Parts: sequence; C-alpha cells; structure tokens
Amino acid sequence: MKVTVVGAGNVGATCANVVAHKELANEVVLVDIKEGLAEGKALDMWETSPINLYDTRITGSTNDYSKTANSDVVVITSGLPRKPGMSRDDLIATNAGIVKSVTENIIKHSPNSKIIIVSNPLDVMTYCAYLTAKIDSSRVFGMAGILDTARYRSFIAEELNTSPKDIQAVLMGGHGDTMVPLPRYTTVAGIPVTELIGEKRLDEIVERTKKGGGELVNLMGTSAWYAPGAAAAQMVEAIVRDQKRIFPVCALLNGEYGMENIYLGVPVVLGKEGIEKIIELDLNSDERKLLDESATAVREVMAVLDGMDL
Ligand code: LAC
Repeated sequence: MKVTVVGAGNVGATCANVVAHKELANEVVLVDIKEGLAEGKALDMWETSPINLYDTRITGSTNDYSKTANSDVVVITSGLPRKPGMSRDDLIATNAGIVKSVTENIIKHSPNSKIIIVSNPLDVMTYCAYLTAKIDSSRVFGMAGILDTARYRSFIAEELNTSPKDIQAVLMGGHGDTMVPLPRYTTVAGIPVTELIGEKRLDEIVERTKKGGGELVNLMGTSAWYAPGAAAAQMVEAIVRDQKRIFPVCALLNGEYGMENIYLGVPVVLGKEGIEKIIELDLNSDERKLLDESATAVREVMAVLDGMDL
C-alpha cells in the first residue's frame, strides 16, 4: 500500500506520522510546496522508525507529484489554517485554488486513488476536489465527522470520568458551528447518554463540541492538528485494511436525506472501495431541522465557490 499526504504542515505531518507508526502502508509520501519542508519532516519521522519499530518507508518531496504515483490513498491537507477570529469559511479564497491544483496533480499520477480532503472549509473543499477530480464520489470524501465526534466523545468521557473507548456517537452536518451532534444516537457502553447526563449539561457539551475547533484556535493562535491528523489516519486505516467501519464522513449526497449535490457529514461504511454505503438514519423533526440548517450554511459557501473563477 502507498499513501500520500499532501501538506507537510501540522495536520499533514501528524497524519503521516500516525500512518507510518501504525504501519498502515509500506510507503508514505509527504508533499509540500515549501522547499525542503516535506523532505525534512519525512526524514525526521523515518529516523523514529528504529525507536518506534516500524518499517513503513517515509519520503518527502517538494511539489514533485511523480513521487506520489500510484498511491492507493491520498490525504489532502493543503491550505491555510484559521487564525483567531476567523471562521473556516473565511479560508475559501485561498484554499479553493490550492485544493484544485493539488487534486489535478494527484489525479494525474494516481487516477485510481481514494482521496480524503482535510482542508477547510471542509465540506466545500471536498466538493471542489470532487468537481476537479471527476471521479466517482465514493472515492472523494472529507474528514470532519471523526474529528468532531472524537471531541464530543472526549468531552463526555471527561464529564463521566469514564474511558473514551466506551463512548459511541453519531454527528452529522457540515464541519462548522452548525454541525449536528446527536445525543439520541450517543451511548456509553450501550447505555444511552441521556440516562447518564442531564439535558442541560448535555446541551453544554454539544455546544462546546460545535465550537471545538475554535476553542483550540483561541488557545493556540492556529488550528488543531493532533486530533485532525489522527482522524484522517483512521480513515486511511479503514480503507487500506478494508475494515468497513462506520464513521461520519463528509460525503456527496445524491438523494440521501432528501438532498442532492451537496457534500455533508453523514454516517457511512468505509472500506477498500472508499464510501461503500451511506447510512440513512430516521431523524426526528428537531434533528432534521438542525441538519437542514447545516446544509443551508454549507450551500452558502458552495455558492461562493461557484462564483469563483478558478
Ligand atoms: C478543526 C479544524 C482542523 O476543527 O477544522 O480543528
């Protein structure tokens, strides 16, 4: 297996490091536009292999996509991160052009790859990559739901003083403040979370989850990377090991949830073919309303993309 990670910034480097550390591929190629950055980070990671005991070969390249040829999975993290006071949507002007040109290069050298988008604004950058790649949407999708549910699950584990391993949850919608965590589909070792945490406290946890990325931007002055990088690597794992795991993933909807031609976070089965199935939940009217609001917010940013001359 060969995995390429485009963007050797914090998120890309973390993802590549996790993929190598877990030996999810024989070969990991890290690419960046900044001279020497990908080579340097790849070399630094490779030098951990005798300590961490893995043999995944990691190499770096400054913008030479021939090195990425025939990758099975490609993770695109390129683009600027947020600064305090910015929303993810503020990044569209810079990141859309970057995601488009990276996707063109990837498709040229790895026409059969599965492409995972991590760049923000996530849902619309995934749509942008899909329009550029011109391949089936089962092979182009975005990482957000695993990150957002991981935040939600970690907050619940903290609240209950239990292991995060036992928290299962579903979260839908866009990767923005309108995302929709679903307490009705959240359990702690099979126990509905609503039996363990009161409504008011759970609402606070949901609100904290929605602003989870912003909380970190405010603390660090830039956006997060450990959880985003690990979340993208978990998607790589599901694909290369054909695990058929159920994760919330930013996927193109073609009639599911009554929506057409929009990339939005929904539960899917992820395996060697990419998105092998989109799972349709029977949402109640409150949940449905929140999902519709989130879709409206994503469509507003899609309209900005449509108006751009890329
Ligand atoms: C976050 C960024 C990566 O949510 O979107 O941390």
